[in-house]
Amino acid sequence: MSGWFQSLFADPYGTPAMVRRLLVEHAYAHRRLYAVAFVLMGVSAGATAISAYLLGDIINQAYVHRSFPGIVAVGLLAVLIFAVRGAATYGHSVLLSRVANKVVASNQRQLFDKLLKENLSFFADRHSSEFIARLTTGAAAASQSLNLLINAVGRDLFTLIGLVTVMFVQDPVICLITLLVVPPAMILLRKLVRRIRSIARKQFDFNARIIETMQEALQGIRVVKAFTLEDEMHRRLDASVRDIEGESNKWARVANRASPLMETLGGFAIAGAIIYGGYRVVEAGATPGEFFSFIAAFLLALPSAKHLARLNIELNSQLVGVRVLFEVLDSPSGEPDEVHKPPLALSTARVEFADVRFGYRPDEPVLRGMSFVAEPGKVTALVGPSGGGKSTVLNLILRFYEIEAGAITIDGQDIAAVSRGSLRGQIAYVGQNVHLFRGTVRENIELGKLGATDAEIVAAAKAAHAHDFIMGFPAGYDTPVGEHGFQLSGGQRQRISIARALIKDAPVILLDEATAALDSESERHVQEAIAELCKGRTTIVIAHRLSTIMHADRILVIEGGLVAEQGRHDELLRKGGRYASFYRLQLSEQAAPSAAVVTLAR
Ligand SMILES: Nc1ncnc2c1ncn2[C@@H]1O[C@H](COP(=O)(O)OP(=O)(O)OP(=O)(O)O)[C@@H](O)[C@H]1O
Ligand SMILES: [Mg+2]
Repeated sequence: MSGWFQSLFADPYGTPAMVRRLLVEHAYAHRRLYAVAFVLMGVSAGATAISAYLLGDIINQAYVHRSFPGIVAVGLLAVLIFAVRGAATYGHSVLLSRVANKVVASNQRQLFDKLLKENLSFFADRHSSEFIARLTTGAAAASQSLNLLINAVGRDLFTLIGLVTVMFVQDPVICLITLLVVPPAMILLRKLVRRIRSIARKQFDFNARIIETMQEALQGIRVVKAFTLEDEMHRRLDASVRDIEGESNKWARVANRASPLMETLGGFAIAGAIIYGGYRVVEAGATPGEFFSFIAAFLLALPSAKHLARLNIELNSQLVGVRVLFEVLDSPSGEPDEVHKPPLALSTARVEFADVRFGYRPDEPVLRGMSFVAEPGKVTALVGPSGGGKSTVLNLILRFYEIEAGAITIDGQDIAAVSRGSLRGQIAYVGQNVHLFRGTVRENIELGKLGATDAEIVAAAKAAHAHDFIMGFPAGYDTPVGEHGFQLSGGQRQRISIARALIKDAPVILLDEATAALDSESERHVQEAIAELCKGRTTIVIAHRLSTIMHADRILVIEGGLVAEQGRHDELLRKGGRYASFYRLQLSEQAAPSAAVVTLAR
């Protein structure tokens, strides 16, 4: 027995195990509210049973005893019973909704926290819309499953027990006859459940694909329009929409198959009751009250019986969403909390790579024993051919990925041995693609230092050469930037992102120089802003512009995951090695004054 019981829960994502987990992890915390709801459900189920019972009294008072005062008394009692049932139903409905909303809210928070603790490779392997589908479906499914269960037990089961009791009191024999249909109903319903589960899973997947297509089209709306891809996007969406429509129809067919089944079996049961009960009244002289009360109880019980019969079908549809939720919550975090690691303690901010080896995928080395030093307060420029590993160097300093061998140290401390938060807190990163968040210019700059004063924000904007153009907007610092900052020009976006990095006042600056060409005026402003940002800080810049490279204190030529050469611009040119040929091929045209802004092809 216990072996069988345990095997029920062996599959962590099987129905029994998931239901148990829902109850333990989500329902238990709200047990008091649930208890009150149960009591109220019991009250309303009792009221329903009593009203069926009373019908027998009414009929006997009217037709057998022919007593008008008796009828009035029963009528008044009915008012009371219905009022009590109404109040109890209101109470438990509101309570259950409140608990459900709490469960949804806590799941949304938990899922989002979990998402923020994932590392970059987790995101590289997945489409962002998958999370959106999981976040929305998963968070809602848990509360919906719980409500299904609670309603099934509290409302339907209690009501059914009450009404069957009335039926039994009124006429035990017919009651037993009608119960004969229960076992065949259960056997037939079991078959439907298995099909429902696979249909519901497909519905979820197709739904995620629809969100994916919509989101991609929206994010790439410029490309869609410029390349007139509307028809192609339409075609992609159409396929998923058609698929999900088909699955939803299938779901409806299978799930509703329970109804004709239950109605037919219910018909047999009531036919038996009518014939036997009628026979008792007509032939054996029984009073009609019991007979009618029995029929009323039976008819009232039918909807609850149907709900219970459908419970497994509905529950298994919802559990697909719950499973998705549990899968996300159970997967180990890529960036777990590091409370036990000490914070990074900076003095001069000297960054060193010592024989660092790393690859994004196993057996595909990207850095093959890289060593270099970024001197404190100096600008180190990384140059080299595309795919050489420059962006990888920045990713590793930020500890977006863990290295395989060697060590990255800042002021002698291994960055893997200090907490991620303290490491990233000392680094200001300005990426190649500027990302601004929804909100105003002020809010976006403030993200560099939460709680910064207006004076600090203005000072940072001034240093980033952004203040003048910001003040040129009618709303000034309160100008909304639009989604991804699309309401600003490319150069303006860059300067705001530099202001955001400046206000952070971090001792280490990582800069991935933008390759997008700006007009010479913007270019000059951005260059000046960057010069301001790097002043006196340890800066590592992936440089594409000759002006940045020429002013760097040291240039590292990164090629094939190694430092091929290093030195200053003139030293390296004189040497006539990799840098010299790189310069001749890619940088020299920038040297001509008229073409000062031509940027490198990556
Ligand atoms: N997330 C990733 N997953 C797998 N491989 C990656 C990933 N990012 C980069 N790579 C690979 O790592 C190698 C180095 O990439 P990296 O981005 O560091 O080059 P880069 O020097 O910055 O080039 P570019 O000048 O074009 O930006 C490339 O071969 C690239 O294909
Ligand atoms: Mg790069």
